[in-house]
Amino acid sequence: MAKIVLDAVDKVYAGGVKAVDGLDLEIRDGEFMVLVGPSGCGKSTALRMIAGLEEISGGKISIGDRVVNDLAPKDRDIAMVFQNYALYPHMTVEKNLEFGLKLRGASKEERKKKVLEAAKMLGLEQFLDRKPAALSGGQRQRVAMGRAIVREPQAFLMDEPLSNLDAKLRVSMRASLSQLHERLGVTTVYVTHDQIEAMTLGSRVCVLREGKLQQVDTPQRLFDNPVNLFVAGFIGSPAMNFVDAELTRGDGGARVRFAGFDLPVPDELVAAKPGLEDWFGKKLILGVRPSDFEDAAHADSAWAPMGVTSSVTEELGSEINVIFTIDAPPVEHKDTADLAEDAADGDAADTAIPLTDNKALWTARVNARSHVRPGQQVELAVDTRRLHFFDPTSGLAIGHQEAPKISKD
Ligand SMILES: Nc1ncnc2c1ncn2[C@@H]1O[C@H](COP(=O)(O)OP(=O)(O)O)[C@@H](O)[C@H]1O
Ligand SMILES: [Mg+2]
Repeated sequence: MAKIVLDAVDKVYAGGVKAVDGLDLEIRDGEFMVLVGPSGCGKSTALRMIAGLEEISGGKISIGDRVVNDLAPKDRDIAMVFQNYALYPHMTVEKNLEFGLKLRGASKEERKKKVLEAAKMLGLEQFLDRKPAALSGGQRQRVAMGRAIVREPQAFLMDEPLSNLDAKLRVSMRASLSQLHERLGVTTVYVTHDQIEAMTLGSRVCVLREGKLQQVDTPQRLFDNPVNLFVAGFIGSPAMNFVDAELTRGDGGARVRFAGFDLPVPDELVAAKPGLEDWFGKKLILGVRPSDFEDAAHADSAWAPMGVTSSVTEELGSEINVIFTIDAPPVEHKDTADLAEDAADGDAADTAIPLTDNKALWTARVNARSHVRPGQQVELAVDTRRLHFFDPTSGLAIGHQEAPKISKD
């Protein structure tokens, strides 16, 4: 096992595309690090450079104590798992699993032992004699994982390994992956464009955009404390709501005004966001997570009321998404524009609701017992201690708390 360090790593492809731009990242020994970001942001390129499948244009990569810039992939002691399983179709599962070991001259007993161990771990024992064609997608992906495991590498590199599986299988494979990582403790770098996968799997998550690192932190801290509009909108589902707003201070304390609403801003929040003081009397961007809303009938009495008219309600069983328009245009910023483009490319397009009169659409996630109905007035409440504020020019979060520095052991 080993830590992996990327030091100012660049990749410029022939033709001039800068796919990875000055990437600094330290993946700790035994850590499960997820690289996430929209399609084309450079995730696979970064992973392939760690693997040695792609030359680096600048910077330094080390695995363990070795700088590997000039080391061939086979000498890096890593194992890769891809989206397409790349199994040998004419070989049984057992032969597929032991193939790498055989190449490296492992004895028959050793091969047998390791293959059995891996098969047990992955629930593949009863399939050892089958060929890949007689396996389900999920089983094939397990075999691909098994091949990586038997090699006992210093690190696993995985590029969207679950993206060919259906939604239900993805969830169970996610759980198996987490378990495997618990058991083996091997440093893992995992690429996905799916923020839910990133949040559920990562010990830490690194958000990339156009080849540049945006933020790297634990899932919870990314959610609670995003560094900019882009990360705020990318992490979390349904996505954070945004609006142009004005921060004011009167006799009753700080308030934030937007779209005809006027919410109190708790003193503790102002205190917790250094620099927010300088924004009184100025325009900024307000962000509210759907999960920081509740139906007022079910909310903590300290939360601020906000009456809206629901346009659509999505009943998910465990909760209800209330979608409503507010009397303000959608925020215009490069960060939110990029997010909208990414959403339109992906699954979210199915649920996209056309904008009415250029008004911003917001989502509130409320208790399943709420009586909210589409087209009706609903009294929502907001947990104002969890409001987010962004600089409308830079898109940076105001008062953002830096991630704790990690030790360079
Ligand atoms: N072999 C290549 N030659 C030229 N450009 C490439 C090549 N591979 C990827 N790119 C470009 O580099 C950028 C990053 O690609 P990639 O790392 O595959 O992104 P991701 O995995 O995040 O979707 C994209 O703009 C892509 O078009
Ligand atoms: Mg990719």
